Amino acid sequence: MTYLYLLATLLFVFGIKRLTSVKTCAQGNRLSEAGMLLAIVTTLLIYNGSISWWVVIAGLLVGGGIGAIIAKKTPTTQMPEMVAALNGFGGVASALVAMADLLQNTALKGEASLSMMGTVLAIATPATILIGMVTLTGSFVAFFKLGGKKIVHPLKGSARHYAHAALGLAAIGCSVWMVFTGSHVSMAIAVILLALIASALGVLLTLPIGGADMPVVVSLLNSYSGVAGAAAGFVINNPLLIVAGALVGTSGLILTQIMCKAMNRSLGNVLLGGIGDDTVAKDAKDYKSIKATTPEEVAMLLDGATSVVFVPGYGLAVAQAQHTIRELGELLIKRGVTVRYAIHPVAGRMPGHMNVLLAESDVPYDQLFEMDQINGDFKNTDVVIVVGANDVVNPAAREDTGPIAGMPILNVDEARTCVVIKRSLAPGYAGIRNPLFDLPNTLMVFLDAKEALEGMVKEVKELK
Ligand code: TAP
Repeated sequence: MTYLYLLATLLFVFGIKRLTSVKTCAQGNRLSEAGMLLAIVTTLLIYNGSISWWVVIAGLLVGGGIGAIIAKKTPTTQMPEMVAALNGFGGVASALVAMADLLQNTALKGEASLSMMGTVLAIATPATILIGMVTLTGSFVAFFKLGGKKIVHPLKGSARHYAHAALGLAAIGCSVWMVFTGSHVSMAIAVILLALIASALGVLLTLPIGGADMPVVVSLLNSYSGVAGAAAGFVINNPLLIVAGALVGTSGLILTQIMCKAMNRSLGNVLLGGIGDDTVAKDAKDYKSIKATTPEEVAMLLDGATSVVFVPGYGLAVAQAQHTIRELGELLIKRGVTVRYAIHPVAGRMPGHMNVLLAESDVPYDQLFEMDQINGDFKNTDVVIVVGANDVVNPAAREDTGPIAGMPILNVDEARTCVVIKRSLAPGYAGIRNPLFDLPNTLMVFLDAKEALEGMVKEVKELK
């Protein structure tokens, strides 16, 4: 069985490795799925005899059924919410495993304190409950914030920090109580209190973080769910759970770091800040020389272009215009135009959001370019079409101050003509004015992204 666990671990590791490239990521997913199936089957074989198969089958049918329905029904715009919810379930699953193991030890072996169960259990059991419950409630706050719900922290300023510190100390107190108590009743009280305090901490720590920073928080909570899983692995002495949890914990942390770097922010700044919450700058709609245009005029512009770069952003996902953008791209390629897509690392609302959307509409991978690959080439580009992106093309990021100061951006302002498709002059997630819209070489198409692109497709088809 150890060899099967080792094989499952290898499948996880190679699966993650393959996820690092767009071309191999689908295969990476398959490898990881195979690893998970092997892990589940091996675990069931190990515990065969001590488990109820009816419970296992019922769990598979109910859990698998709900998962399949959610996965089918969730639109791509709500993927971040789904990931947040799944992290939460992962956290609570680990916490429940630790509680069940404790219940079994106290009921079957009669132990009433964790110190009598050994050092590993004394550390891992409270840690699993604490991290698992923080992950559960923190993830659901992130879920609601991503869905646009305005929920605010009940406390302000230093009172907030004192409250968090008091809850942290109370959680440590309950954990110590679990280790040294001698009675079953006080053990039960300590466990319930720890779970409640950890739940409150998850909510309160996540509440002050800005809506725009939620994807970073989701990634961090993903890492926590991995740590909770690894701790649960120590509780039930399962090496595969320890390894898989550690993989999720570290990859979540690396992703968090990558996202912070792409926004030029520190993790501390994200956790304490509030960018994009309710902070829309007063001058965000203050523009002087906007030039509005129509899909028909853009088609005429495209008629004379030899190179076109599409820059997709969150608005493309909202409009579900991924198929139309591909159609326009194909039409242009048939006319001999070089077509590329420039992908900013934090375009959209989750890592890889634009890659997923464009892959869904079968845009060839070799047309996708990362920011560093294409940024030097905008100055040689005839037409850039920005589709529902805002912050990731905002030249204000080049200033020394401001919410997105220092964030690397796509240099679309260097192109000969930059067409921006969005419905209004409303700001992006960071809530600030975008000087790109006022530049002499920028043209605005004030339409829903799908409607605008459909209009361009129609007009380009009519070109000679
Ligand atoms: P945003 O800056 O949020 O801008 C999206 C724009 O799309 C909006 O200005 C909106 O303007 C437009 N839009 C919305 N619906 C539309 C529709 N149906 N048709 C046409 N346009 C539409 O998006 P972005 O440029 O992709 O930047 C992403 C933001 O999220 C950044 O601030 C980034 O830091 C943040 N963020 C992302 C991540 C990841 S991992 N992706 C992580 C953390 C933070 P109108 O309302 O005028 O149409």
